[in-house]
Amino acid sequence: MEKMDGKTMDLVAENVSKLKELFPEAFTEGKIDFEALKEVLGTFVDDRDERYSFTWNGKSKARMIAQTPSTGTLRPCREESVDWDTTQNIFIEGDNLEVLKLLQKSYHKKVKMIYIDPPYNTGKDFVYRDNFKDNIKNYKEITGQVDGEGRNLSNNPETSGRYHTDWLNMMYPRLKLARNLLKDDGVIFISIDDNEVSNLRKVCDEIYGEENLLGVFQWRRRQRADNRNQSRVSPDHEYIVAYSKTENIVLKGTEVDLGKYKNPDNDPRGPWASIDLSGLATATQRPNLHYDIVDPQTGISYPPNPSRGWSKSKDNVLKMIKEGRILFPKSPKGRPREKKFVNDLNSTVTGFSTCLDSKHVGYTTNGTREVTSLIGGKYFDFPKPTNLLKTLIDQSTEKADIIFDFFAGAATTADAVLQLNAEDIGGRRFVVAQLPEKIDVKSEGFKAGYKSIAEISKERIRRAAAKIKKELATTGHTKNTEKYKKENYLFGKAETSVSSVFSVVKKIDLGFKVFKLDSTNIKPWEVDFDMTERTLEDFISNIKSDRKEEDVLYEILLKYGLDLTLPITERTIAEHKVFDIGMGALIVCLSDAISLEVVEGIARLKDELNPEIMRVVFKDSGFKDDVVKTNAVQILRTAGIVDVRSL
Ligand SMILES: C[S@@+](CC[C@H](N)C(=O)[O-])C[C@H]1O[C@@H](n2cnc3c(N)ncnc32)[C@H](O)[C@@H]1O
Repeated sequence: MEKMDGKTMDLVAENVSKLKELFPEAFTEGKIDFEALKEVLGTFVDDRDERYSFTWNGKSKARMIAQTPSTGTLRPCREESVDWDTTQNIFIEGDNLEVLKLLQKSYHKKVKMIYIDPPYNTGKDFVYRDNFKDNIKNYKEITGQVDGEGRNLSNNPETSGRYHTDWLNMMYPRLKLARNLLKDDGVIFISIDDNEVSNLRKVCDEIYGEENLLGVFQWRRRQRADNRNQSRVSPDHEYIVAYSKTENIVLKGTEVDLGKYKNPDNDPRGPWASIDLSGLATATQRPNLHYDIVDPQTGISYPPNPSRGWSKSKDNVLKMIKEGRILFPKSPKGRPREKKFVNDLNSTVTGFSTCLDSKHVGYTTNGTREVTSLIGGKYFDFPKPTNLLKTLIDQSTEKADIIFDFFAGAATTADAVLQLNAEDIGGRRFVVAQLPEKIDVKSEGFKAGYKSIAEISKERIRRAAAKIKKELATTGHTKNTEKYKKENYLFGKAETSVSSVFSVVKKIDLGFKVFKLDSTNIKPWEVDFDMTERTLEDFISNIKSDRKEEDVLYEILLKYGLDLTLPITERTIAEHKVFDIGMGALIVCLSDAISLEVVEGIARLKDELNPEIMRVVFKDSGFKDDVVKTNAVQILRTAGIVDVRSL
């Protein structure tokens, strides 16, 4: 029976085995022969001493940090969750590096869109410091979960010699691990400002591939310029850098406003719009665009605007006059215009502009107002406006996609997902992670009862969900009825009657499951522990004494790479508790004194539930005796269950 340990998947081993599959000739006695690998790769190898590369102090360590398995786990927290049994949304409290590591298997290639808003490294914000040796202990110290107070999250001042280096070392492993979670057609959006935009671009070029840069969007964050900058430059915008995982990814784009196209003259060619025909070049620049357009009916001649000319050549316009595509003015003071038909448009969609329209997506003040009005005070600085997130999510996802934000802050991304789902009866799911960063005891937020930013984030989601629920219960569903009817949304065929629309509205997932990062539930083997402090029971069981069954279940789910929102049902077999996860995908029995009847009962579940693959997990010390333990594997194998492990 194979044993599970407290570590997450070994990314290096995984990559080496992929490499071996591709280049078996570069392996001798299980090790990589670099010379042989170079030979296979031929001209693609660049081993010149001077070559184009982006590096900084600590880069190799940052790479190693990304590859070191996590010794943590995610412990479920029902009390802080909403609709635990049904929801598919997830909130994770913890350091996102460990969280990313823990999610590597369960969410590998599952996420359609990642949005992150990391510290911009302004000199005033703090940059999380990872610890290579024991990052979970480091996390607990930083967040004050051990030794009471916790370490101060000092900021990363610009005067520090490691200013950019610290930021890059923090971002590199996170961006690298995040990429593994993206679907092949997935997209990542990263908010950033001038401080680190150039470094971010370079790291992302390396991790995501420069050919996969979708665009660098500019977002005007405030309406009015200020005079705080000595050089009299007012930095009013920031960026959202977007990369796709692979090439040829298409965003939704912007629908052309077809409302402008009408057919007042019943033209058999269909609706049309009157379009300006003037150009943008002087006669010196483009002489062929400067000529008189003559109305063949009246003989009136229209000269070009001297600084602009026309947008089309004379031959082209003469042809268009013949085809009835030029509109001549009623008064000679007017200008000829083009009669543009919907049918002539190459596409009714234009690209999603890299200049975001803040009148539509909102400014920082909108974000602040939204969060303040929801949670009752200004307890969080600079949240993004929800419309900004709704726009990015709408551009890059379909209605059943997973959206991930691992620098959640005030949880704007989660709110945006809920709002969009309510608007189009979508089934998008969010996974967000946030550090329980302590709140200053002197701050208003602390006085209002919030001890960490993660507490603010969770409360924001709860209140945002409650607000949506209230709106849907009153006017929301009727407001959107027409939209719902038209669309063939997630729940299959379009609904037609208002009452059925209402019943669908009730299915919108407004809950979320809370998980918290902690050390593994499984006792480490190699630690040198003080025997006197341990009870005998403690010694026999491999599971830490302060952990619950449910904690262990979710650790097993993570190790198997199963979705954390799979339904879990409890059964009783021969008086022992047995958990059925995902309709037989995983059967877990954490009892002691397991008898053969229990094992046989589990074997029978294979036929009853008929899953594609069934895995079974027991506690290593959980069997009545060694005979049962040895026979268990055999009995299950006979039933067609080969993946049997112990903890
Ligand atoms: C700029 S804020 C995000 C704001 C968010 N977009 C919003 O609209 O509310 C960045 C957040 O990342 C969190 N953070 C920083 N380092 C982290 C880490 N290592 N793990 C998880 N969260 C972290 C900070 O606590 C902060 O709340």
